[in-house]
Amino acid sequence: MRSNLVAGNWKMNGDSASIGKLMANLTAALPAEPGVDIAVFPPSVYIAQVIGGFTGSPVAVGAQNVCEQPGEGAYTGEVSAAMLADVGCRYVIVGHSERRAMYEDSNERVAQKARHALEKGLMPIVCVGETEVQRDSGATLDVIAEQLQSVFAVLSVEDMHSIVVAYEPVWAIGTGKTATPSQAQEVHAFIRALFAKKDEPLAKGLRILYGGSVNAGNAGELFAQADIDGGLVGGASLDAQEFSAICRAA
Ligand code: G3H
Repeated sequence: MRSNLVAGNWKMNGDSASIGKLMANLTAALPAEPGVDIAVFPPSVYIAQVIGGFTGSPVAVGAQNVCEQPGEGAYTGEVSAAMLADVGCRYVIVGHSERRAMYEDSNERVAQKARHALEKGLMPIVCVGETEVQRDSGATLDVIAEQLQSVFAVLSVEDMHSIVVAYEPVWAIGTGKTATPSQAQEVHAFIRALFAKKDEPLAKGLRILYGGSVNAGNAGELFAQADIDGGLVGGASLDAQEFSAICRAA
């Protein structure tokens, strides 16, 4: 049985004071036993603050990105998987469309990031998704298959038992244009079928999150789909009441 996961990607928002406030509001708003896995992804400089603030809470913490290089060395500005694990991160997002579009995260680099994260005991959330042009031209499933192909090329079936996949149609991110539950379910079922070709139990246990303008109003219907196992939430995760409502819907 898969446990649902609701992940709040805070992106490049906040400062130490507002993040302290958000954590306090989340602690007050979330049920003590949420019955769903919850994780938040602060900007990297605030990760330690958030891990400290959520000690003993059901909220896990992850990073929004990781360096694709193993080990340490002369990679100015980068943060390694070992460092994230060292400070207590449990998850890391890899291949978010914003990084693919703005920071040259290729499919191959995303797969390397996932690999090094797994080596250090982190759970990568591998993001995939098509642009509006790709959807309009009927290429959605091909794009998703190609993005996952690099992951299949680098990770073993055993490794893949510890990953999460997030389907985030690029046209739905931060736009208020959510995929309909049936549009999302179609892609989620397709993703699960791709994993089933590798291994049935892997596919059955794989958590596939939906991301793209998830809010308290649409979360219930999305999460009710057979192959949607929670959400990767951007904007709505910055509001404790809204995020808590999304967690309750999962
Ligand atoms: O990582 C989260 C996604 O990019 C979704 O962002 O909920 O603001 O559309 P959004």
